[in-house]
Amino acid sequence: MARKVMVIGSGGREHAIVWALKNKSIDIDQIYVVPGNAGMANDAICVALDPLNFRELISFAKEKQIDLTIVGPERPLAEGIVDAFEEAGLAIFGPSKSAARLEASKVWSKEIMKKYNIPTAESSVFFDYNEALAFVRSLKDFPVVIKADGLAAGKGVFIAGSLEEAEDALDKIMREKVFGASGERIVIEEYLEGEEASVIAVTDGQYILPFPSSQDHKAIYDGDKGPNTGGMGAYSSAPVIDYDLSKEIETNILRPLVEGLKNEGIVYKGVVYAGLMITKDGPKVLEFNVRFGDPEAQVIIPRFKGDFYDLLYASVEGKLNSQSVNWDSQQCVCVVLASKGYPGAYEKGKPITGLDSLDDEVLIFHAGTALDNQGRLVTNGGRVLGISALGRDLLEAKTKAYRAVEKIDFDGKYFRTDIADKGLRRLGLFSG
Ligand code: AMP
Ligand code: GLY
Repeated sequence: MARKVMVIGSGGREHAIVWALKNKSIDIDQIYVVPGNAGMANDAICVALDPLNFRELISFAKEKQIDLTIVGPERPLAEGIVDAFEEAGLAIFGPSKSAARLEASKVWSKEIMKKYNIPTAESSVFFDYNEALAFVRSLKDFPVVIKADGLAAGKGVFIAGSLEEAEDALDKIMREKVFGASGERIVIEEYLEGEEASVIAVTDGQYILPFPSSQDHKAIYDGDKGPNTGGMGAYSSAPVIDYDLSKEIETNILRPLVEGLKNEGIVYKGVVYAGLMITKDGPKVLEFNVRFGDPEAQVIIPRFKGDFYDLLYASVEGKLNSQSVNWDSQQCVCVVLASKGYPGAYEKGKPITGLDSLDDEVLIFHAGTALDNQGRLVTNGGRVLGISALGRDLLEAKTKAYRAVEKIDFDGKYFRTDIADKGLRRLGLFSG
């Protein structure tokens, strides 16, 4: 039976989802993507609807007889797209609004972690600026981590290295309200030392199917320097998570989370993403997200072996136990090409060249791209393209990805040159 799918979102992650529907699923008749980008237009029909206008999306899904809607980004999930579609009798992949609070509210997420003994940083919650101020003034050790409650596009977290920086962060979040209502409550937590990694799984509220581990590169500059971005590149697997550790993460983090939520009356369906710090005392949760990571999706989805549509549909139906999944033993590296100035201000509309000269050894996932009025491919965002490559090992994957990166050009092209190096060092494969 030919199936119709709608994907919500417009970034590299959503392009990877569209690519998997096209290349790793059978019997897909039509893919719609809302709103999509220039790169997805080859494989899907881009539809200019608002991802937050659920009424319009539902009537579109009914009119086109969509069999499954897949939600890429967090905001529609946090605003209840899944509940709205389910009420309308439509199948949709992702967690409900109450489950999506795991990402939308750091305060609630911390409460759940504490209640179900999920390892995480010690923390306190504050509603009042003066109390928060008194607390940071009482601290002897810095850094300390201050987090605004709520979605702040990754920018609501401050690592304060001194009392002065902590006071400044409190001021910005709670008095200036630079993140709006997210600043009404904050979490102040212990600074964890270690290496970060991501474990992303699909669940149906009962079974949990983890993808191979991955590692993001959040900072804009090489060596993890400079301000945080949405993610400048990723690789999978992350050698910092060995087999035993991956089992420990499943048993001590993912399983208690899904079961704890069930105990709270929430059947968690969709993606669960644990952002972890691997400390000397074991893995601890920095945050939970409720959707695929971007750019982690661009390195874990290429390693999926099986029917991607069936996997996601099985989560919706609560039949994940029926899925047999394998993973490509090849490793994957994704390098993000960004516009100069990102994550600050940047220019758009720069023509992109070189994509035609690439061979099949890489996957090109578009993020901020568009066609201009002459039909040329141009930059249209901070993160422009993600170049993913599979290889026998991380070194081969990295070499292939960077070979392609050199061939692509646009005015102001910027990328990190050290994606995957932490993993390569751990494996003894780093060659400088
Ligand atoms: P979050 O959005 O909570 O994952 O925080 C964003 C980033 O801040 C993380 O990816 C870490 O790099 C850093 N971070 C958050 N919490 C902590 C912590 N408790 N200790 C050290 N770094 C942290
Ligand atoms: N790559 C980090 C995120 O998707 O939140």
